[in-house]
Amino acid sequence: MYDFKIEAADKAVMYRDLLSALEGLTAGEPDPIANMANAAALIWETLPDLNWAGFYRNVDGELVLGPFQGRPACIRIPFGKGVCGAAAETLRVQRVEDVHAFPGHIACDAASASELVVPIVRDGKLIAVLDLDSPTRARFTEEDEAGCVAIGSVMSRAL
Ligand code: SME
Repeated sequence: MYDFKIEAADKAVMYRDLLSALEGLTAGEPDPIANMANAAALIWETLPDLNWAGFYRNVDGELVLGPFQGRPACIRIPFGKGVCGAAAETLRVQRVEDVHAFPGHIACDAASASELVVPIVRDGKLIAVLDLDSPTRARFTEEDEAGCVAIGSVMSRAL
């Protein structure tokens, strides 16, 4: 088992260390499921105040649940539906302070209050989305968004 102890006190340092751990874990490994599984576990262990962290994959134009940490979740999400579907359709990051105010939000876990979804794109095509949920309203800042976009670009090479 890999033992990464990443200090969460300073966000900039935390994302720097998280990215270097993720690059190390995925380097030379071609299996996308293995890489998503380790990324979800690393994010879950490192980022405080999450109740879900994981991936939905683009399978023939539909989002299908991938490796994650947290409670069992909805399996299939159409493009355009909910926060993940909006990210998939627009290829834009969705940083939602209050999911209950987001039209069409899919409540997989009633505890979720805020959400960050990052599209993972390669050669202009959506491969997957990274989805993070938190029980705290407005949990995700611009710094989290930038950190998770950087995670997304590492993952676009690892999927
Ligand atoms: N809330 C998401 C669905 C996925 S779960 O949060 C794991 C959404 O609206 O897309």
